[in-house]
Amino acid sequence: MEASDTAADAASTAAEDSVTMDKIVALCKRRGFIFQSSEIYGGLASTYDYGHYGVLLKNNVKHEWRRAVVQERDDVVLLDAAILMHPKTWEASGHLSGFSDPLVQCMGECKRRFRYDHLVEDLEAGGKPTDHVVCPVCGGELSEPREFNLMFETNMGPVKDDASTIFLRPETAQGIFVNFKNVMQFARKKLPMGIAQIGKSFRNEITPGNFIFRTREFEQMEIEYFCAPAEAAAKHKEWMDARLQWYIDLGIRPDHLQMRKHEGDELSHYSSATSDVEYLFPMGWSELEGIANRGSFDLTQHAQFSGEKLEYMDPQTNEKYVPHVIEPSAGADRGTLAFMVDAYDEESVEGRERVVLRLHPRLAPVKVAVLPLFNKDGMPEKARALYEELRGVMQAEYDTGGSIGKRYRRQDEIGTPWGVTIDHQTLEDDTVTLRDRDTLEQTRIPINEVTGELVKRLAADWKTPKLT
Ligand code: GLY
Repeated sequence: MEASDTAADAASTAAEDSVTMDKIVALCKRRGFIFQSSEIYGGLASTYDYGHYGVLLKNNVKHEWRRAVVQERDDVVLLDAAILMHPKTWEASGHLSGFSDPLVQCMGECKRRFRYDHLVEDLEAGGKPTDHVVCPVCGGELSEPREFNLMFETNMGPVKDDASTIFLRPETAQGIFVNFKNVMQFARKKLPMGIAQIGKSFRNEITPGNFIFRTREFEQMEIEYFCAPAEAAAKHKEWMDARLQWYIDLGIRPDHLQMRKHEGDELSHYSSATSDVEYLFPMGWSELEGIANRGSFDLTQHAQFSGEKLEYMDPQTNEKYVPHVIEPSAGADRGTLAFMVDAYDEESVEGRERVVLRLHPRLAPVKVAVLPLFNKDGMPEKARALYEELRGVMQAEYDTGGSIGKRYRRQDEIGTPWGVTIDHQTLEDDTVTLRDRDTLEQTRIPINEVTGELVKRLAADWKTPKLT
């Protein structure tokens, strides 16, 4: 596809949506999903804290990833490596010498810092010349670009010198490579097999931004999938298909997703081929997950720097080789953001506006709200008993505060797929109404069938509802 077509498509699709990043940020604050970090001190730039619903949502994203890439497969095992690693790791991986972005500073009035490559890309996208790039804010002259290493440096132990310098990991992947031998010894698996890990990584980005899309502290969900060199291209394709499908299965509209292949000069130092799963965020198409063919780069480097043999012997052919690696590397925070953006909807119901997060039920922070219509006549007791039964198997809420309309609006905004109302009829015949967040349909069912019904619905396939 032509770049101009992509931009035009993005603009027209984005224009059809009611969602903007400002609306998402406001909803996150209003409903306690995500807060600015250290807010009482004026906030720390581009750093965020997850509140109750944000933690539940992001945990569900991570849980669904683990379900898809570990639980529902036979060939992937888990690892949780330390954030701090031996400094030689980063020499071997190439991050010490090569993990940098070109930094320029405005020498005019504003003194801001920019990524030079981003400034050039923006000019190119606007069809403007790039032979004399100036500050996009104040028009001042820029300094010469200099390579700025993105790793956060710190010191281990009480003495601050070169020998004590270590780094916060910029990717979880290296924790997997250095443990390849340990894991293979205990996994009782043959190649091809993968090692999956979720964890925090840190990059001292020059220009973070777009809420939780690009932050300096972030959470990755990475798989290093080890295979024979001859299988690598086919496995790369398999993982690209599987990972794109995962987002669709969890409710993202397929026309808001695309796979984009990296051009030669865009490839990371370790990659021979990378394709990104991209999502149509309000700011345009942006990366959700990179799927790289890392070849034998990392294991070869670590073998050389550590002196350990990092090879595999095929038990059938007795052939020895350094495995090749396919790496699906997803961002848990930007994934969470994409699921929220795609689920966000506004509509008018019987003359009243509502904001609704049409999240896949398995991602929704709260699955069901139990709502007694009145706080008297024995309704709270019945409702409370049902709530206590439900919370044993799923995240549930018991809500007695305010009018029923207000309670529904609150649950709609946090994406709760089902609401159970206890009313006068419940006291007579032990039935309740079960409300569906998306269709607004209310069905009457026996109170003792609610838990079973919702467990069944959570396990069932789910179709993305048509957004207004
Ligand atoms: N491990 C790949 C990345 O962090 O981008």
